Amino acid sequence: MRTTFAFTALVASLTAVFALPAGEGFIGKTTVKAPTGQNVTIEGKDVILWFKTGDKAIEDSVQAALDFVKRTPEDDSVNVIKNAQFTAVVVKNVGDENVDAFNAMDEIETVEEVAAIKSFEVKQTNSTWGLQRISNKAGASGNPRDETFTYTFENASLGAGVDIYVVDTGVRTTHAVFTGRATQGANFSNDATNTDGDGHGTHTAGTAGGAKFGVAQGANIIAVKVLGSDGTGSSSDTIAGMSWVIDQHNKRKTEPGFVGSLMSMSWGLTGTATTVNNAVLEASKAGIHVSVAAGNSGADACGSTPAMVGGAKSAVVTVGSININNQVSTFSNIGTCVDIYAPGEQILSAWNTGDTIVNFLSGTSMACPHVSGVMAVLMAQDPAGLGQNPAALKTKLLGTALVNAFTGNVNGSANLLLSNGVSGNLSVRSPKNAKKWVVESTDLPGEKRTITGDAANWAKDFTKDLTARWNLHSTDSPLRF
Ligand SMILES: *[C@@H]1O[C@H](CO)[C@@H](O)[C@H](O)[C@H]1NC(C)=O
Ligand SMILES: *[C@@H]1O[C@H](CO)[C@@H](O)[C@H](O)[C@H]1NC(C)=O
Ligand SMILES: *[C@@H]1O[C@H](CO)[C@@H](O)[C@H](O)[C@H]1NC(C)=O
Ligand SMILES: *[C@@H]1O[C@H](CO)[C@@H](O)[C@H](O)[C@H]1NC(C)=O
Ligand SMILES: *[C@@H]1O[C@H](CO)[C@@H](O)[C@H](O)[C@H]1NC(C)=O
Ligand SMILES: *[C@@H]1O[C@H](CO)[C@@H](O)[C@H](O)[C@H]1NC(C)=O
Repeated sequence: MRTTFAFTALVASLTAVFALPAGEGFIGKTTVKAPTGQNVTIEGKDVILWFKTGDKAIEDSVQAALDFVKRTPEDDSVNVIKNAQFTAVVVKNVGDENVDAFNAMDEIETVEEVAAIKSFEVKQTNSTWGLQRISNKAGASGNPRDETFTYTFENASLGAGVDIYVVDTGVRTTHAVFTGRATQGANFSNDATNTDGDGHGTHTAGTAGGAKFGVAQGANIIAVKVLGSDGTGSSSDTIAGMSWVIDQHNKRKTEPGFVGSLMSMSWGLTGTATTVNNAVLEASKAGIHVSVAAGNSGADACGSTPAMVGGAKSAVVTVGSININNQVSTFSNIGTCVDIYAPGEQILSAWNTGDTIVNFLSGTSMACPHVSGVMAVLMAQDPAGLGQNPAALKTKLLGTALVNAFTGNVNGSANLLLSNGVSGNLSVRSPKNAKKWVVESTDLPGEKRTITGDAANWAKDFTKDLTARWNLHSTDSPLRF
């Protein structure tokens, strides 16, 4: 039987995930596969049909599949996702009688149930030690929550001409850190608004390319919203988002001044989805650079989508996390599918609740955009050689990384730490005057307090409910660069 049915079910409780408090900032999903040898049902399910990419008569094949399920491409229950690289069709509410029809179609390579994805975050305290860590052989030491570190780089253009597509919960494009470089690209979520109602996307975009907190401070940031304001979405929405990026890249690639495209994807599934893996690999084949978060389960990254497509076998870059003490984060996924590690604990970046509001998050979601930023910088430094060549850029990125610069069990990954190739001398700025902070919970009504001084202190008091969401912001405004 050619067709693969990967059966998934949403598990209502995400306790397994929340049990790992350090694992915020990642988007996950629980997969339940049908036991081998048992008959399976797709009755009432939404499925993704992935068509063979070499199929010459793709229109006819899609039509034939839709005829089987008695739908037309115009039906609300159908979404045909199509670009120069691949065709996938999402069909809602199919029946068991369609199993045989799908199996009989040679043109359909995979049938997979639409899987749910969700973001989950725990707010932590302050800092930009990451920018120093990636630009200084000596690393960074001291309190990771201090904002007293130095980012060193050779050329201030920092990724100019590179399009960074942040495939996430959306981006607050008006935030001060984006200095007019961020635009709303496309929305594939169920939200009625394309703004970031969660914060995760704005934070990751800020690390990849925001002023002050970000790596590639000259790059274009394009929001591709595949997750709703509650941080949830589906695998089919991520495929639609990647398809849109492929179309954009193909339009942009001949324009003057264009350097290249990069998708920064800080989300994943706790299980696997072949259709999503396929879409990532097709984007890479189209010349789009891709960096993905390794995942926050402290497990083998080869067990989850899309982290599993990284490693030696592709040009996709899978990113694990380290802390300021140069240790692998306890939550970071590891193993042979992880290509490189980057700062991912207590990362300070832009937040979605205001144009000058910042926040602190930890997770491989925060490590991934550090890598995206360095990739953009390297692309802009050598547009002809690296701009549209994912394999060459990956080679350059891994070649520029620091070797054996951190400790911890990586279970078969190379010990490579992200570097922008500059070994800046450690130069520490004097700490700014103590600020007044406001910390409030969006989950626990009435939980709010004002703290003057070290923003780190609040975290100790707020660890009693790690599943709650916290907003931390300074009352001093506007944001200073
Ligand atoms: C699966 O379905 C087929 C046909 O309906 C039936 O013959 C077979 O016994 C079923 N297998 C299991 C494990 O239920
Ligand atoms: C985002 O997409 C969803 C689903 O297609 C749609 O309902 C919503 O109106 C869109 N929002 C915007 C701002 O386009
Ligand atoms: C370590 O890698 C092996 C495969 O090489 C895998 O089976 C195992 O699950 C991994 N362990 C962890 C903790 O990642
Ligand atoms: C900085 O990089 C840009 C291209 O990104 C280049 O045009 C410019 O000449 C570089 N500046 C220096 C001083 O190397
Ligand atoms: C670091 O600083 C020392 C002394 O201040 C200087 O000699 C050295 O060249 C610097 N190294 C780099 C890479 O800038
Ligand atoms: C980070 O915390 C330090 C105190 O540890 C504080 O002085 C600094 O202002 C904070 N950074 C930001 C951006 O508020």
